[in-house]
Amino acid sequence: MIIKNKKELEILREGGKRLAAVLNKAANNAIEGVTTRELNDLAESLILKSGGAPSFKGYKAQGAPHPYPDALCVSINEEVVHGLPAGRKLKNGDIVGLDIGMWYEGLCTDTALTVLVGGGKNKLIDATKKSLELGIAEVRAGAHAGDIGFAIQKYLKSEGFGVVRELVGHGVGRAVHEDPEIPNWGKRGVGPELVENMIIALEPMATEGGYKVKLSKDGWTWLTCDGSRSAHFEHTLVVTKGGAEVLTLL
Ligand code: MF3
Ligand code: CO
Ligand code: CO
Repeated sequence: MIIKNKKELEILREGGKRLAAVLNKAANNAIEGVTTRELNDLAESLILKSGGAPSFKGYKAQGAPHPYPDALCVSINEEVVHGLPAGRKLKNGDIVGLDIGMWYEGLCTDTALTVLVGGGKNKLIDATKKSLELGIAEVRAGAHAGDIGFAIQKYLKSEGFGVVRELVGHGVGRAVHEDPEIPNWGKRGVGPELVENMIIALEPMATEGGYKVKLSKDGWTWLTCDGSRSAHFEHTLVVTKGGAEVLTLL
Protein backbone atom coordinates (compact mmCIF):
# COMPACT_ATOMS: atom_id res chain seq x y z
CA MET A 1 0.00 0.00 0.00
CA ILE A 2 0.91 3.63 -0.26
CA ILE A 3 -0.14 5.50 2.83
CA LYS A 4 -2.42 8.44 2.23
CA ASN A 5 -2.11 10.35 5.47
CA LYS A 6 -0.45 10.74 8.84
CA LYS A 7 -3.15 8.68 10.55
CA GLU A 8 -2.30 5.56 8.52
CA LEU A 9 1.39 6.04 9.30
CA GLU A 10 0.63 6.36 13.02
CA ILE A 11 -1.41 3.14 12.95
CA LEU A 12 1.35 1.22 11.16
CA ARG A 13 3.98 2.61 13.53
CA GLU A 14 2.00 1.52 16.57
CA GLY A 15 1.02 -1.85 15.07
CA GLY A 16 4.60 -2.54 13.97
CA LYS A 17 5.98 -1.72 17.38
CA ARG A 18 3.45 -3.94 19.12
CA LEU A 19 4.11 -6.78 16.69
CA ALA A 20 7.87 -6.51 17.29
CA ALA A 21 7.25 -6.91 21.02
CA VAL A 22 5.14 -10.02 20.37
CA LEU A 23 7.82 -11.59 18.19
CA ASN A 24 10.53 -10.74 20.69
CA LYS A 25 8.65 -12.50 23.48
CA ALA A 26 7.96 -15.53 21.31
CA ALA A 27 11.67 -15.70 20.40
CA ASN A 28 12.68 -15.58 24.07
CA ASN A 29 10.49 -18.63 24.61
CA ALA A 30 12.03 -20.65 21.77
CA ILE A 31 14.03 -22.92 24.08
CA GLU A 32 14.71 -26.65 24.20
CA GLY A 33 11.61 -28.72 24.91
CA VAL A 34 9.08 -26.06 23.96
CA THR A 35 6.71 -27.13 21.18
CA THR A 36 5.91 -25.14 18.09
CA ARG A 37 2.25 -25.25 19.15
CA GLU A 38 3.07 -23.65 22.49
CA LEU A 39 4.97 -20.89 20.69
CA ASN A 40 2.04 -20.29 18.37
CA ASP A 41 -0.43 -20.14 21.24
CA LEU A 42 1.78 -17.72 23.15
CA ALA A 43 2.16 -15.50 20.08
CA GLU A 44 -1.56 -15.54 19.37
CA SER A 45 -2.49 -14.60 22.93
CA LEU A 46 0.10 -11.79 22.91
CA ILE A 47 -1.36 -10.46 19.64
CA LEU A 48 -4.85 -10.41 21.12
CA LYS A 49 -3.55 -8.73 24.30
CA SER A 50 -1.93 -6.05 22.12
CA GLY A 51 -5.30 -5.17 20.64
CA GLY A 52 -4.51 -6.82 17.30
CA ALA A 53 -5.54 -9.89 15.33
CA PRO A 54 -3.35 -12.51 13.63
CA SER A 55 -3.13 -11.73 9.91
CA PHE A 56 -1.89 -15.16 8.80
CA LYS A 57 -4.79 -17.10 10.31
CA GLY A 58 -7.22 -17.91 7.53
CA TYR A 59 -4.87 -16.56 4.85
CA LYS A 60 -5.47 -18.24 1.48
CA ALA A 61 -2.51 -18.85 -0.78
CA GLN A 62 -2.86 -19.94 -4.40
CA GLY A 63 -2.65 -23.71 -4.62
CA ALA A 64 -2.60 -24.30 -0.85
CA PRO A 65 -4.85 -27.17 0.29
CA HIS A 66 -6.43 -25.12 3.09
CA PRO A 67 -6.16 -21.61 4.56
CA TYR A 68 -3.20 -21.03 6.89
CA PRO A 69 -4.51 -22.26 10.27
CA ASP A 70 -2.34 -20.36 12.76
CA ALA A 71 -0.94 -17.03 13.93
CA LEU A 72 2.76 -17.91 13.70
CA CYS A 73 4.95 -19.65 11.11
CA VAL A 74 7.67 -21.79 12.73
CA SER A 75 10.30 -23.13 10.33
CA ILE A 76 12.97 -25.46 11.73
CA ASN A 77 16.36 -26.16 10.07
CA GLU A 78 15.71 -27.27 6.45
CA GLU A 79 12.26 -25.67 6.63
CA VAL A 80 12.64 -22.26 4.98
CA VAL A 81 9.34 -20.47 5.70
CA HIS A 82 5.63 -21.03 6.38
CA GLY A 83 6.23 -23.99 8.72
CA LEU A 84 2.99 -25.08 10.41
CA PRO A 85 3.25 -25.03 14.22
CA ALA A 86 1.98 -28.60 14.55
CA GLY A 87 3.61 -29.45 17.89
CA ARG A 88 7.18 -30.50 17.23
CA LYS A 89 9.56 -30.04 20.20
CA LEU A 90 12.50 -27.67 19.76
CA LYS A 91 16.01 -29.06 20.38
CA ASN A 92 19.25 -27.29 21.22
CA GLY A 93 21.07 -26.48 18.00
CA ASP A 94 17.88 -26.09 15.95
CA ILE A 95 17.72 -23.02 13.70
CA VAL A 96 14.18 -21.75 14.13
CA GLY A 97 12.52 -19.10 11.99
CA LEU A 98 9.54 -17.31 13.53
CA ASP A 99 7.36 -15.24 11.18
CA ILE A 100 4.31 -13.30 12.30
CA GLY A 101 1.77 -10.80 11.00
CA MET A 102 -0.83 -8.69 12.77
CA TRP A 103 -3.85 -6.56 11.93
CA TYR A 104 -3.98 -3.42 14.02
CA GLU A 105 -6.73 -0.86 13.49
CA GLY A 106 -7.35 -2.13 9.98
CA LEU A 107 -3.75 -2.31 8.71
CA CYS A 108 -1.17 -5.09 8.92
CA THR A 109 2.58 -5.45 9.38
CA ASP A 110 4.78 -8.53 8.96
CA THR A 111 8.08 -9.45 10.65
CA ALA A 112 10.33 -12.46 11.15
CA LEU A 113 13.58 -13.52 12.79
CA THR A 114 15.61 -16.66 13.27
CA VAL A 115 17.09 -17.99 16.51
CA LEU A 116 19.54 -20.72 17.43
CA VAL A 117 17.91 -22.81 20.16
CA GLY A 118 20.21 -22.95 23.19
CA GLY A 119 21.98 -19.76 22.15
CA GLY A 120 25.47 -19.15 20.77
CA LYS A 121 26.62 -17.83 17.44
CA ASN A 122 25.60 -19.05 14.02
CA LYS A 123 27.11 -17.71 10.80
CA LEU A 124 24.04 -18.34 8.65
CA ILE A 125 21.76 -16.50 11.09
CA ASP A 126 24.16 -13.56 11.45
CA ALA A 127 24.66 -13.23 7.69
CA THR A 128 20.95 -13.39 6.92
CA LYS A 129 20.25 -10.69 9.49
CA LYS A 130 23.00 -8.50 8.07
CA SER A 131 21.68 -9.03 4.53
CA LEU A 132 18.32 -7.59 5.62
CA GLU A 133 20.12 -4.53 7.00
CA LEU A 134 22.02 -4.14 3.72
CA GLY A 135 18.73 -4.42 1.80
CA ILE A 136 17.11 -1.78 3.99
CA ALA A 137 20.08 0.53 3.37
CA GLU A 138 19.17 0.53 -0.36
CA VAL A 139 15.62 1.72 0.24
CA ARG A 140 14.61 5.26 -0.75
CA ALA A 141 12.05 6.84 -3.04
CA GLY A 142 13.28 6.36 -6.60
CA ALA A 143 15.30 3.21 -5.86
CA HIS A 144 14.40 -0.01 -7.67
CA ALA A 145 13.54 -3.39 -6.20
CA GLY A 146 16.63 -4.72 -7.99
CA ASP A 147 18.87 -2.45 -5.92
CA ILE A 148 17.69 -4.23 -2.78
CA GLY A 149 17.92 -7.71 -4.27
CA PHE A 150 21.37 -7.04 -5.66
CA ALA A 151 22.75 -5.90 -2.28
CA ILE A 152 21.25 -8.87 -0.43
CA GLN A 153 22.35 -11.46 -2.97
CA LYS A 154 25.86 -10.08 -3.33
CA TYR A 155 26.51 -10.17 0.40
CA LEU A 156 25.00 -13.62 1.09
CA LYS A 157 26.87 -15.10 -1.88
CA SER A 158 30.13 -13.60 -0.67
CA GLU A 159 29.55 -15.28 2.69
CA GLY A 160 29.05 -18.60 0.92
CA PHE A 161 25.30 -18.96 1.42
CA GLY A 162 22.52 -19.85 -1.01
CA VAL A 163 19.88 -17.17 -1.68
CA VAL A 164 16.30 -18.43 -2.03
CA ARG A 165 14.80 -17.12 -5.27
CA GLU A 166 11.30 -18.49 -5.35
CA LEU A 167 10.01 -16.53 -2.35
CA VAL A 168 10.19 -12.76 -2.21
CA GLY A 169 9.50 -9.64 -0.17
CA HIS A 170 6.33 -7.70 -0.95
CA GLY A 171 4.09 -4.74 -0.44
CA VAL A 172 1.98 -4.95 2.72
CA GLY A 173 -0.49 -2.96 4.83
CA ARG A 174 -3.99 -3.44 3.48
CA ALA A 175 -3.35 -7.12 2.69
CA VAL A 176 -0.80 -9.73 3.83
CA HIS A 177 0.79 -9.70 0.37
CA GLU A 178 0.58 -6.81 -2.08
CA ASP A 179 2.57 -5.56 -5.04
CA PRO A 180 5.36 -4.87 -5.63
CA GLU A 181 7.39 -8.07 -5.32
CA ILE A 182 10.83 -7.48 -3.83
CA PRO A 183 13.16 -10.36 -4.76
CA ASN A 184 16.30 -11.06 -2.71
CA TRP A 185 18.34 -11.22 -5.91
CA GLY A 186 18.58 -9.10 -9.03
CA LYS A 187 20.30 -6.27 -10.80
CA ARG A 188 20.71 -2.65 -9.84
CA GLY A 189 18.26 -0.28 -11.52
CA VAL A 190 15.89 -3.09 -12.51
CA GLY A 191 12.41 -3.92 -11.24
CA PRO A 192 9.59 -1.85 -9.74
CA GLU A 193 10.45 1.62 -8.49
CA LEU A 194 9.90 2.44 -4.84
CA VAL A 195 7.85 5.53 -4.14
CA GLU A 196 7.58 7.74 -1.09
CA ASN A 197 5.09 6.42 1.53
CA MET A 198 5.04 2.89 0.08
CA ILE A 199 4.85 0.12 2.72
CA ILE A 200 6.98 -2.93 1.95
CA ALA A 201 8.27 -6.03 3.74
CA LEU A 202 11.84 -7.14 2.97
CA GLU A 203 12.58 -10.75 3.82
CA PRO A 204 15.82 -12.45 2.78
CA MET A 205 15.97 -16.25 3.09
CA ALA A 206 19.39 -17.91 2.96
CA THR A 207 20.62 -21.50 3.10
CA GLU A 208 23.81 -23.33 4.03
CA GLY A 209 23.57 -25.07 0.65
CA GLY A 210 21.80 -24.43 -2.64
CA TYR A 211 19.10 -21.88 -3.41
CA LYS A 212 16.44 -24.36 -4.54
CA VAL A 213 13.31 -24.88 -2.45
CA LYS A 214 10.22 -27.07 -2.72
CA LEU A 215 6.82 -27.19 -1.07
CA SER A 216 6.33 -30.02 1.42
CA LYS A 217 3.45 -32.48 1.37
CA ASP A 218 1.57 -30.41 3.96
CA GLY A 219 1.05 -27.80 1.23
CA TRP A 220 2.46 -24.90 3.27
CA THR A 221 5.99 -25.56 4.51
CA TRP A 222 8.81 -24.62 2.11
CA LEU A 223 11.89 -26.87 2.37
CA THR A 224 15.39 -26.65 0.92
CA CYS A 225 15.75 -29.20 -1.88
CA ASP A 226 19.17 -30.31 -0.60
CA GLY A 227 18.13 -30.56 3.07
CA SER A 228 20.47 -27.74 4.08
CA ARG A 229 19.45 -25.46 6.93
CA SER A 230 18.05 -22.01 6.28
CA ALA A 231 17.40 -18.69 8.01
CA HIS A 232 14.95 -15.83 7.44
CA PHE A 233 14.62 -12.24 8.69
CA GLU A 234 11.92 -9.72 7.83
CA HIS A 235 10.92 -6.15 8.56
CA THR A 236 8.04 -3.98 7.41
CA LEU A 237 9.08 -0.45 6.53
CA VAL A 238 7.87 2.77 4.97
CA VAL A 239 9.80 4.21 2.04
CA THR A 240 10.84 7.81 2.64
CA LYS A 241 12.49 10.42 0.38
CA GLY A 242 15.95 9.70 1.69
CA GLY A 243 15.66 6.15 3.05
CA ALA A 244 13.41 3.90 5.10
CA GLU A 245 11.65 3.99 8.43
CA VAL A 246 11.53 0.46 9.83
CA LEU A 247 8.17 -0.10 11.51
CA THR A 248 8.63 -3.52 13.13
CA LEU A 249 11.14 -2.47 15.78
CA LEU A 250 10.74 -2.58 19.56
N1 MF3 B 1 4.68 -13.85 6.59
C1 MF3 B 1 4.78 -14.52 5.36
C2 MF3 B 1 5.53 -13.58 4.52
O1 MF3 B 1 6.42 -12.99 5.04
C3 MF3 B 1 3.44 -14.89 4.84
C4 MF3 B 1 2.80 -15.90 5.69
S1 MF3 B 1 1.30 -16.29 5.05
C5 MF3 B 1 0.93 -17.68 5.85
O2 MF3 B 1 5.30 -13.32 3.38
F1 MF3 B 1 -0.26 -17.92 5.50
F2 MF3 B 1 1.79 -18.62 5.54
F3 MF3 B 1 1.02 -17.47 7.13
CO1 CO C 1 6.43 -12.70 7.14
CO1 CO D 1 6.33 -11.12 4.35
